[in-house]
Amino acid sequence: MATSKTSGLTHGNKVTDGLMDTRISQKNPIANVVAYKALGLAVSNVEAATEFYSRFGFDLEKEKSVDNVNVLTHPGGLELHVFKADRAHVDNKNILMDYDENKYPGINHMSYSVPNVTACKGFLESKGITIKDKRQYPNDPRIYAIFIRDPDMTTIEFENNHGEEFLSVEHFTASMIGENRPIDHVGIRVFDPDSTLTWYAEKLGFNNLVAKFEYDPTAPLKNGRPWISRTQSGTDINLILNTNERPKEHVLTAGGSVAPGILYAFWSIEESISAVAVNLKAEGVPVVLERDVETSELKFLSKRFVPAAKGLSSIFIQDPCQNIIRLIGPQ
Ligand SMILES: [Fe+2]
Repeated sequence: MATSKTSGLTHGNKVTDGLMDTRISQKNPIANVVAYKALGLAVSNVEAATEFYSRFGFDLEKEKSVDNVNVLTHPGGLELHVFKADRAHVDNKNILMDYDENKYPGINHMSYSVPNVTACKGFLESKGITIKDKRQYPNDPRIYAIFIRDPDMTTIEFENNHGEEFLSVEHFTASMIGENRPIDHVGIRVFDPDSTLTWYAEKLGFNNLVAKFEYDPTAPLKNGRPWISRTQSGTDINLILNTNERPKEHVLTAGGSVAPGILYAFWSIEESISAVAVNLKAEGVPVVLERDVETSELKFLSKRFVPAAKGLSSIFIQDPCQNIIRLIGPQ
């Protein structure tokens, strides 16, 4: 079982309703997310992070990188956009993960599906990476997930939920991470989970409820299983429910100073960005056009993103818990 080091990732709640495939909202979504393109990752040392992520397949792409942002690409298709944070975590404890008494909203981990977790564990250990935690159930020898931390204590999960292929450690390669998908999910810790679940369904097309478990609002810090929702394209998010704090500012960007962590999830959409921006604003969603970042409330993102390529456009939006999402699509 996970320990407090991965607060929010244990899967101990009583299941009231298991896997399902239920439409969350009857409304047509404003945008339909089609894939994870990237994660915006703040780190205290860009070179050290670039080296760390290269150990499991993320290659530095110099031609895609810009001043202040290293673009790392994985064979599965995900990019990490790595840039420098303004501050380190206090005592090297991840503010989103390592405090039992405060569990803040935030994107608290990234998770990759792998064909065999035990083989993946051996592969990572052969690269000098320490396994910090694992998810395993009583009376079952299989490991379902393992967790590692990057040099800034950002959490990375490798999991298998669909039956493992037989695979020895020697045959595990970095390209197997993700199983040909960019990433399985990010974990987003939220307050008010029912309304947030609906928000992601109606705004961004995460409208298929894959799993929803019992949630006890009188025990807000209790670790439990995530709620999983999915777009038509099969893109998943996991909502982490145990939150007791509704801070005025997001803890990773409080005071405009960026702490290490997953600062934004970056998704591709098929709809016109300009139309989506108008429609999201009309529903009260904070929207910042890429070109307006420097003069916006998100100015801490200046020089912390790679501009959209010609013919494409991007916006930054915030969910009800102030988590930042970047969308890219046709103009
Ligand atoms: Fe996860």
